[in-house]
Amino acid sequence: MQITFGASAPEDCQLIAHVVNQGETPVGLEGALAEGAVVARFKGKPGQVFEGFVTRDDVTYRIALAGLGEADSDDRTANLEKAGAALAAKYLRSGEKAMALSLAGAGLSADDATSVLLGLRLRSWRHDVYRTKLAEDKKATLEHVAVTASPDGTSTAWVEKAAIAEGSEFTRMLVTEPANKVYPVSFVEKCVAAFQGTGAELTVLDEDVMKQLGMGALLGVGQGSRQPSRLLAIRWNGGGDESPTVFVGKGVTFDTGGISIKPAAGMEDMKWDMGGAAAVAGGMLTLVKRQAKANVVGVVGLVENMPDGNAQRPGDVVTSMSGQTIEVINTDAEGRLVLCDALHWAQEKFAPKRIVDFATLTGAIIISLGHEHGGLFANDDDLADDLLKAGKDSGDKMWRMPIGPAYDKLIDSPIADIKNVGPRGAGSITAAQFLNRFIKKGTAWAHCDIAGMVWADKPGATWDKGATGFGARLIDRFVANTLEG
Ligand code: BES
Ligand code: MN
Ligand code: ZN
Repeated sequence: MQITFGASAPEDCQLIAHVVNQGETPVGLEGALAEGAVVARFKGKPGQVFEGFVTRDDVTYRIALAGLGEADSDDRTANLEKAGAALAAKYLRSGEKAMALSLAGAGLSADDATSVLLGLRLRSWRHDVYRTKLAEDKKATLEHVAVTASPDGTSTAWVEKAAIAEGSEFTRMLVTEPANKVYPVSFVEKCVAAFQGTGAELTVLDEDVMKQLGMGALLGVGQGSRQPSRLLAIRWNGGGDESPTVFVGKGVTFDTGGISIKPAAGMEDMKWDMGGAAAVAGGMLTLVKRQAKANVVGVVGLVENMPDGNAQRPGDVVTSMSGQTIEVINTDAEGRLVLCDALHWAQEKFAPKRIVDFATLTGAIIISLGHEHGGLFANDDDLADDLLKAGKDSGDKMWRMPIGPAYDKLIDSPIADIKNVGPRGAGSITAAQFLNRFIKKGTAWAHCDIAGMVWADKPGATWDKGATGFGARLIDRFVANTLEG
């Protein structure tokens, strides 16, 4: 979708949209329209859209009023996005090619106005590339949103917000693509293409290099697949001399469970078991596109977890890059095996002060928090608070969970240093404890278990169904709040 700024509406545009605060009457509308809005009980609630018709000079126009909610709401930003999203949902497949949108008259700041546009853009994202027989009325028609009136500075402010949209869309694309299209090598290729010419520095480790480095845990997961594993680092030096903040993502491009194989029902969902890696890649893309004034690195561990004749077995002992040995009790608890080597390598290579990982790590976090919050685990209260705040600000909400020695001892192994699963209870916490054993003393670390957040079966704030893009905006906001402040 193209978003442009300029006073005149595109030719033949018969869709005109306005934004309205809750309880305020839109000014400058024909009487019949204003009365129609009252009759239709349009109140300007967030996400509410009224449509009326007027004929001006023998041309009939659709006039849309989108509700912004109350001007002083605590949820103002989310409500502004919701208004844009509601317009997109209503008109994306309406047959209209263009929308003339006025963002004036509701007392919005430039930044507010771009929130409406961000909602519009995110809600109209779709991934129809494999739908060759899409019925005419199911096809998206809305191609162009022409902002005809807006607060001063809106088009400049939109440049930064558009970077957020690009990052989120990249995340959603990676998550949506099936596992025969996105596998470790092609994930890397898509990143190489996306970051081409941006100034970001990409480093790719293949299996030979990872073997030399001793990444036995990550490679053990990948050894049952025909698809070779990869480790990818995306580095952006937009700040001063300080050591970078590092984001690490779980990139299991498909998780069958391995020899501890998963049941067939719902296994197709495991194409999005690379949602952590996609969040990191998308978050980095946003930061790079908006030239963030910060030193950041995204590291993603990419493997496919398959059960072939060379697959690792339950009971196998592998040696991680850190030197710690791991008893693989359950080959389906593979994410932590990938992350432990990625986390260790990232700490060795970049000596970060802060490291934050993102992973669709456990089904248990969905039992705990459902689809409203990601689970946050941290060894540092300040880092945790910063992530909780970034979550609130960005809409990618997190909720803190406990860690501690009593949970840690549940993953002691009788034969190795550590085992990859604990008892039945507290499954998300013991997974976090596992990762914690690979964090160096003095490094602030947080782990975001986003298994419940990357995919949605129902339409949400800024998506229809499917990939939400969760995590990319959290990363962007966290960096903006803590490093660019
Ligand atoms: N990728 C899954 C976690 C998951 C489950 C993500 C459902 C999204 C939806 C992970 O690799 C896994 O299989 N975890 C196991 C751990 C168990 C074997 C200790 C789980 O959650 O069942
Ligand atoms: Mn698994
Ligand atoms: Zn997994």
